[in-house]
Amino acid sequence: MDDSVRKLKELVDGSGNIVFFGGAGVSTESGIPDFRSVDGLYNQKYRYPPEEILSASFFRKNPEEYYRFHHDKLRLRGAQPNAAHRKLAEWEAEGKLKAVITQNIDGLHQAAGSKNVIELHGSLLRAYCARCGRRYPAETVNDGEGVPYCDCGGVIRPDIVFYEEGLDQDDMYRAVEYISHADMLIIGGTSLVVYPAAGLVRYYRGSKLVLVNKGETGADRDADLVIHAPIGEVFSQL
Ligand code: OAD
Repeated sequence: MDDSVRKLKELVDGSGNIVFFGGAGVSTESGIPDFRSVDGLYNQKYRYPPEEILSASFFRKNPEEYYRFHHDKLRLRGAQPNAAHRKLAEWEAEGKLKAVITQNIDGLHQAAGSKNVIELHGSLLRAYCARCGRRYPAETVNDGEGVPYCDCGGVIRPDIVFYEEGLDQDDMYRAVEYISHADMLIIGGTSLVVYPAAGLVRYYRGSKLVLVNKGETGADRDADLVIHAPIGEVFSQL
């Protein structure tokens, strides 16, 4: 075992109030591309940049184009949790980890058994009518082709947070509470560039801030331990 992974293991063993904050990099080892890596969604070619397709105004104006992207790129295609998701669920069951705060919309933390998951950017596993609010099963937006419509004539949308939309204030409040009371904060698989989620890091007040990310992030210099490696590989050794 690498020295830095051994150090991480020691920190985890000595903690009883761990909070995990993660992003798309947590699921790349499950086969779901992240957004900003060279092979991530934002570096693939579309008629519109993905940031624009994933915006509220674009969805309203071009639901056909949005759903072409959604069916092509946001399909989960039977993705399964990896070692990182599983380890976090294990720590929660042992009472060591209090919450997973994620920017991911793939539901893989819950699939691994995590119960207390704050999904800051919503979930692809829920859907509702953009006009009347009626709830629909996830398959309505994830399976098949084309734009799904509600009986009221409105377009059914995934329950994810589009650009131009605010995050759920209750989720943000809970995330701040967990992070500010954590004895250890592990941040993994996120570029930490999308706000307000990325700003949560500054609420941590402890002395065990750990970053596990393939590339560098703006928070590396503030961290007590930085591991630049795939998170599933790292967590499988803990
Ligand atoms: P990004 O794609 O911006 O960043 C993913 C980070 O994970 C990068 O720094 C990668 O180097 C790293 N990474 C990739 N695979 C990894 C692995 N196996 N182990 C460790 N690190 C790995 O994704 P997010 O930070 O999640 O928002 O992006 C934040 C938000 O931007 C997303 O939630 C989404 C997007 O636009 C919305 O759609 C609202």
